[in-house]
Amino acid sequence: MTLSPCDKKEYCLHSAITINFIMDLLINSKKYSVNVSPDESLLTVLRNELDLTGSKYGCGEGVCGACTVLINDVAVRSCITKAGSVAGKNITTIEGLEKNGKLHPVQQACLDVDVFQCSYCAPGMVMSAVSLLKKNSAPTKDDIVKGMQGNICRCGTYPRIVKAIQEASNIQKG
Ligand code: FES
Repeated sequence: MTLSPCDKKEYCLHSAITINFIMDLLINSKKYSVNVSPDESLLTVLRNELDLTGSKYGCGEGVCGACTVLINDVAVRSCITKAGSVAGKNITTIEGLEKNGKLHPVQQACLDVDVFQCSYCAPGMVMSAVSLLKKNSAPTKDDIVKGMQGNICRCGTYPRIVKAIQEASNIQKG
């Protein structure tokens, strides 16, 4: 246990003392050791400590879904998830979806359907869709709309997102 130095991203102001821990995070099947406060958000650790910048900062309040990652295959908002709460769990980010040079079916379907415009929401959308398909491999349109409700796209590409998830479901079925 160490008191965080004031010259890092954490700060020490009189009574506000940040305590860092060295913790192991398993991200995309790779172990990372980080020296951070367990109260730091997972999103900040991913982006600022590990340079895994695929997950995006949007609202910072758990509302928009831009920061979505998978913890043990379940979609969570990394901006409101404390790093200390996910030590030892399987964390998957958008960087970990591609396997052996092959895109995940959701990624491939998003390209095939030409879903995104500005693409800021894309990583979070894709991760939520992957989680949705893990729970329900053949979702109806209503299932998709309901399952993706927490992900906001300011470009309004929702109809194409639904189409891409249906297509990804078909790709997975082979
Ligand atoms: Fe995490 Fe918006 S940035 S939900």
